[in-house]
Amino acid sequence: MNLQDFIRSIPDFPKKGIIFKDITTLLKDPEAFNTAADMLYNFAKNLGVQKVAGIESRGFVFGSLLAQRLKAGFVPIRKPKKLPAQVYSASYTLEYGEDTLEMHQDAILKGEKVLLHDDLLATGGTAQAACSLIEKAGGKIVQVSFLIELAFLNGREKLKGYDVVSVMRYESE
Ligand code: PRP
Ligand code: MG
Repeated sequence: MNLQDFIRSIPDFPKKGIIFKDITTLLKDPEAFNTAADMLYNFAKNLGVQKVAGIESRGFVFGSLLAQRLKAGFVPIRKPKKLPAQVYSASYTLEYGEDTLEMHQDAILKGEKVLLHDDLLATGGTAQAACSLIEKAGGKIVQVSFLIELAFLNGREKLKGYDVVSVMRYESE
């Protein structure tokens, strides 16, 4: 099965010039959903992952699934002012705008092996900010995984030194 067939491209969303990759069309198909989850699990199964950190909001879907399959804990990395306890914060520039991410300071212990997951790698700013939060807590990032990688935006450049994997790669728009 070709998983890219299940991704819907929406031109000019949420802004003119952006071609939005809609994953809801993959999520609603049981076989495609399961195949994608299996692939993400296979990338990570031998790494001794102790925590999976997922980025709000679309990184939560496969992030929590992965945590359960890897028998790891799940850590939400959230948009500002959502988490109730003490947080670390990191700001970043997005493909369309600017934002901040936060993570609870006690979510990850020093030396823990962490897998960071998000649905999509575009310019890499979001994942880079999330990596900085995990490392501020003392976590060791053993993999950064994505469902979709927009390779033409060179997000990998911002994630040098990490094991970056993706289920689907788009070489051009
Ligand atoms: C999208 C996507 C990634 C991020 C990638 O999230 O889900 O998290 O952008 O962009 P980057 O690599 O250029 O930083 P978005 O902020 O739109 O929010 P959402 O997941 O809550 O829909
Ligand atoms: Mg997102």
